[in-house]
Amino acid sequence: MIKTFLNIILLYYLFFQTGLVWTQSYSFQTPTPDGIGKIYQGREISKVMGHLGASWLERSTRIDEENPNLAVDLLQLRKDMLVADLGAGTGYFTSKMAPKCSIVYAVDIQQEMLDLNAKQMSKKGIKNVEFILGSINQTRLPKNTLDLVLLVDVYHELENPYEIMNDIKLALNDSGKVVLIEYRKEDPSVPIKPLHKMGIDQMIKEMNFIGLKLHRNIQKLPIQHMLIFSKL
Ligand SMILES: C[S@@+](CC[C@H](N)C(=O)[O-])C[C@H]1O[C@@H](n2cnc3c(N)ncnc32)[C@H](O)[C@@H]1O
Repeated sequence: MIKTFLNIILLYYLFFQTGLVWTQSYSFQTPTPDGIGKIYQGREISKVMGHLGASWLERSTRIDEENPNLAVDLLQLRKDMLVADLGAGTGYFTSKMAPKCSIVYAVDIQQEMLDLNAKQMSKKGIKNVEFILGSINQTRLPKNTLDLVLLVDVYHELENPYEIMNDIKLALNDSGKVVLIEYRKEDPSVPIKPLHKMGIDQMIKEMNFIGLKLHRNIQKLPIQHMLIFSKL
């Protein structure tokens, strides 16, 4: 009896634990100048943008370069929606979304970014933002709740995309959506370093891998892809 029980435990370990390691399939190489040397689904993950570069996120030319107001309109937010700005940085998108929905959870792994974000929200009189210090493995978002999670210029630099995207899936409600906005890799004229851009096929491949399916492919922004995913 005890032997059978131990065999079941052993089988569980072999199938699920080693299977998990295999599924995540990270491998490692010598880092390229903008990368961390960690490979996921054939793509080298880029370095995280540090808070010392925060002013770039708030540059005055961004409005013309990226048309962020159109991006937010395309989200079709409603006043009853609970949304997350994952990798919120200084709050450039947090402040555009907050007036159009119920609560925005602004998540970042850099406390300095959350501080800048909070300062900006207070300056603009925006009160419906909750700040969350995430980690490289966990979003710390509430479970089974969110209508929408937005990642603008973030996904390519997630150190553990498999863990974070699975965590995001758990945070979504049944009809919840994940929106990825990334600079177009296919377009050499987009003046962004290669590891900070993504191609459509790669984005879809990585989302399918964790069980999200393409819901809409929006090609209306000047230099970025905007892809919306839902649970399978
Ligand atoms: C290039 S900035 C973009 C900021 C903002 N989305 C914008 O478009 O203005 C990327 C942000 O993602 C954050 N980030 C990176 N990995 C993260 C993770 N695992 N969880 C939450 N935030 C993360 C970084 O700290 C940084 O503030």
